[in-house]
Amino acid sequence: MKKIQISPSILSADFSQLGNEIKKLENGGADLIHVDVMDGHFVPNITIGPPVIKTLRKYTSLPFDVHLMISPVHKYIKNFADAGSDIITIHPEATQNLVESINLIKNLKKKVGISLNPNSKIDLIKNHLDRIDLVLVMSVYPGFGGQKFIPDTIKKIEKLNKIRIEKNLNFHIEVDGGVNFSNSKDIIKAGANILVSGTTIFKENDGDIKNNISQLRSM
Ligand code: DX5
Ligand code: ZN
Repeated sequence: MKKIQISPSILSADFSQLGNEIKKLENGGADLIHVDVMDGHFVPNITIGPPVIKTLRKYTSLPFDVHLMISPVHKYIKNFADAGSDIITIHPEATQNLVESINLIKNLKKKVGISLNPNSKIDLIKNHLDRIDLVLVMSVYPGFGGQKFIPDTIKKIEKLNKIRIEKNLNFHIEVDGGVNFSNSKDIIKAGANILVSGTTIFKENDGDIKNNISQLRSM
């Protein structure tokens, strides 16, 4: 079994203090930093872009797990790579040519993630699973933090995990949206090995980040 990693989403951080918030996450035991990029077009919300990611790069040596919710995504991939992203995750619906976008991320020497919305089927990405590093399973409709986990996601994680085992593949299964202390164990049991969380990490237990990260990780 793969090691369980926690990727806190800075969407729930204090945006006027992002550098310090990222330091707190690193000190609290985060494995990755999840950066949600939204364009107000692919999803109904707007966040940050490459210049902000670039300025944040100096605050941590943790990998930046960059979740691009922008369309068309292809022409911006290089900007996000240059800004200091380590993992670049795209939604298949946001590119005209998924193979070309995967190849571009690989050529830029970054890890490739593909994200599945709650209503997107695994079939959509099945042929690419042997070439990517990570599948980001959305457990809410992307756009906002603080939403409720969609329970059907568990079946999708199990199905992906089965494919991973049967085909002897090595991609990570990351889950994003509504992850909390009551569903994290089921998510891990189903086969996920990276948990994204914004609300739980920043808001539970009066914002005790260290405690919240270790509680999410525990089985
Ligand atoms: C949703 C984002 C998530 C979200 C997670 O569009 O991709 O990363 O911020 O936040 P919580 O943990 O609050 O659901
Ligand atoms: Zn995300």
